[in-house]
Amino acid sequence: MQEREPSTPAPVAPLPPVVAPATTPAGRPRRAVLAVALVVVVVALLATGLAVAYGIERTPSGAAVPAVPTVPAPTASRPPALRDLMPPTVRVGSAADGRWMSLDAEYGELLGSEFDAITPENAMKWANLEPSPDVYTWAGADQLVGFAEQHDQSVYGHTLLGRSDVPRWVDPQWSAEQLRTVLRDHVTTVVSRYRGRVWAWDVINEALDEDGSLRDTMWLRKLGPGYIAEVFRWAHAADPGARLFINDYGVEGRTRKADGLLDLVRELRRAGVPVDGVGFQSHLRWDEQPRDMVGNLRRFARLGVSVAITELDVRIALPETAAKRQRQAALYRQVLQACLAVPACVSFTVWGFSDARSWIPSYHAGYGAACIFDAALAPKPAHAALMDQLRRLPSPTGAGPGPG
Ligand code: XIL
Repeated sequence: MQEREPSTPAPVAPLPPVVAPATTPAGRPRRAVLAVALVVVVVALLATGLAVAYGIERTPSGAAVPAVPTVPAPTASRPPALRDLMPPTVRVGSAADGRWMSLDAEYGELLGSEFDAITPENAMKWANLEPSPDVYTWAGADQLVGFAEQHDQSVYGHTLLGRSDVPRWVDPQWSAEQLRTVLRDHVTTVVSRYRGRVWAWDVINEALDEDGSLRDTMWLRKLGPGYIAEVFRWAHAADPGARLFINDYGVEGRTRKADGLLDLVRELRRAGVPVDGVGFQSHLRWDEQPRDMVGNLRRFARLGVSVAITELDVRIALPETAAKRQRQAALYRQVLQACLAVPACVSFTVWGFSDARSWIPSYHAGYGAACIFDAALAPKPAHAALMDQLRRLPSPTGAGPGPG
């Protein structure tokens, strides 16, 4: 169902220039030295004032570097955003693509102000990162990680081993040992590169079939069911600080597939495999809802793992109507409620935020308008519903509803 889409690596933003510390030229006559010293003092005083005004910091070695830009506080021109209202224990993220950031400044502004986490939509998929053996194209992923750091956002890495993004050069006819080697090298290279900069990884994506059994892939055939544990262990060895997730679709409610995933995660945890969390993609339809999502998330949480809403969108059967938008808004609200009702839920991520940039029309014929902002980046009822739900939360001080 899911075809690969080649991602065009976008240029990496240039690094800011480092200002060299001022030095006094040697060997000048005394008066000239004094004059230079005076100028240096005045410049230093001015620079300090400017540094304070513009938030420039000095490193211990004395080189000036721009401070990490903080996201501006809500003002009349920037109304409160999702990231302002979300409880601090839950990240609110969106899938993102560097191409849109380069093409559309408003897209980047909204991505930076509305969310405190981003998931690279395609840039970190194996086929895009390593298009030929041992040849890595980091630009697209680096661009997103850099953007996130500039906007005080976390990065949710997606994905180390996905069902539909293994490069074509990985040959299913290879021996088990060859396949294990390329897989281990890939996982180790990618996780090591972003060590400390990616807070969580989708280690395995879409490993289960609809009946809850392991999907028939070259990995299962050649390496056996233990391949899942191996990938988690390699990822953990490369970055022991990253939270490691297994992610899938069709597991949001109580389904056979969710039962299978629950059993798998229980077994992995029993065997001491470093699985920290379960991701629920949540690609939903406007006229359907998952069965007992809260109860389902809770039974996973009881295994001792975190849970996360990783790819939420709610597709509408076109044409879009006001009534369908309201149903969609109710469903977005319900998923947020489910996450907030389960203390183990650590993040709530939408799969793109703009109807102009969503994957839905190309993958689900007859559907669209799945996001919380419309194609012109105006907030839809779904955005209002999420904001309303967050405003109903008790404030962290316990003094009634939060900021309004
Ligand atoms: C999708 C992207 O959104 C598309 O741009 C791409 O062409 C195909 O993949 N589940 C996943 C994601 O885990 O990786 C998929 O992303 C959407 C479904």
